[in-house]
Amino acid sequence: MRFRRRRPKTNGQPQVLATSVNPVLRGSDSDHNLCVRIEDLSHHYGTGELKKQVLFDNNLELARGEIVIMTGPSGSGKTTLLTLIGALRTVQEGSIQVLGTELCGLDDHALTEVRRGIGFIFQAHNLFESLTARQNVRMALELKSVPPEQADARAAELLQLLGLGKRLEYKPDSMSGGQRQRVAIARALANRPQLILADEPTAALDKQSGRDVVDLLKRIAKEELATILIVTHDNRILDVADRIVNMVDGHVISDVVVNEAAVICEFLRKVPLFAALDPRTLTEVADKMGLETHPEGTVLVRQGDPGDKFYLIRSGSAVVTVSDGTHKRELARIEEGDFFGEAALISGEPRNATVTATDEVALCTLDKEEFRAVLESSAPFKEQMLRILFSRQ
Ligand SMILES: Nc1ncnc2c1ncn2[C@@H]1O[C@H](COP(=O)(O)OP(=O)(O)OP(=O)(O)O)[C@@H](O)[C@H]1O
Ligand SMILES: [Mg+2]
Repeated sequence: MRFRRRRPKTNGQPQVLATSVNPVLRGSDSDHNLCVRIEDLSHHYGTGELKKQVLFDNNLELARGEIVIMTGPSGSGKTTLLTLIGALRTVQEGSIQVLGTELCGLDDHALTEVRRGIGFIFQAHNLFESLTARQNVRMALELKSVPPEQADARAAELLQLLGLGKRLEYKPDSMSGGQRQRVAIARALANRPQLILADEPTAALDKQSGRDVVDLLKRIAKEELATILIVTHDNRILDVADRIVNMVDGHVISDVVVNEAAVICEFLRKVPLFAALDPRTLTEVADKMGLETHPEGTVLVRQGDPGDKFYLIRSGSAVVTVSDGTHKRELARIEEGDFFGEAALISGEPRNATVTATDEVALCTLDKEEFRAVLESSAPFKEQMLRILFSRQ
């Protein structure tokens, strides 16, 4: 597992000054940032004496643009879960929402509609043997009524990206297992699905092809804000994950965020001010944010200094004080979900308060230019930020 610190620890001297203290803003979750929400999901196979429960009360959320890898022993229920999310099986107990649609109780027609929006990469790749690689990929686009030339170009582009540029006109029976798998992957990606479900996508591939495939998936997740759930036993690809979910005996037993930007993104989704951002902007902001930790007693920002950063408290707490030169007055105590440092960035004036850590604090930070870019990119964010700022002056 990887936990990368993008900025060095900056203990000691503060770099930014607080201008004002924000109210505690947390506790909400925004649905528009979620792709999949699973609640209390159980599943059985068979009936009567042969009835066997294979999934037990599972809860799981997949954010938009997130790459989640699911691992776990054979028979633990991974494929069952994947096919339930993919609307390929009927939900028996519990709830699955995919992009806001509840799957439980949907009729066949509605389930088919949900499936159309999902890209499937499964072990049995079901290519049409009589069609060429390009035609197999085009099939997916024809279902969506994409004009022929556009469909042809998109199919060729994807196959090229997957290293099959020289195999466009080959039929599956003259391709290797790995090549067939890559055609199936191109087909799954053709429609730019918002959700991609992959069951052992690299199993039939050599090391380099496997790496190319996951790199491509990662690019798609970021560029198209697609959510990708990959079931795999392949340890070599774990590093592409934002999050790793482990399934044992029908239970999701661990769900760990491993990528720093994903950690920040998950946190931001719970802060209402940031939840106002659209999912793409939220992901971009998380990507730009740094993480800093400081020990108790550190002056995080100092009154009178110029402002160069915006801070959001991820954990720990701090105290905000102002001084008139002789007396120091405590303004507020702030903690997880509170932010500070925005006023000086907006007004260009020096920090109007000092913020000191009262225990070890972890901070998400944005540089001045990045903060301003976010303000300009989202009217609701700017409006809310200005409202908070003026209400405190
Ligand atoms: N169609 C089915 N009918 C009856 N039992 C099934 C069916 N499909 C799967 N099972 C059983 O459900 C359990 C979970 O199977 P599932 O295929 O979801 O596991 P998995 O984690 O994907 O395993 P693997 O890593 O081997 O692919 C297993 O005990 C399996 O035997
Ligand atoms: Mg399986």
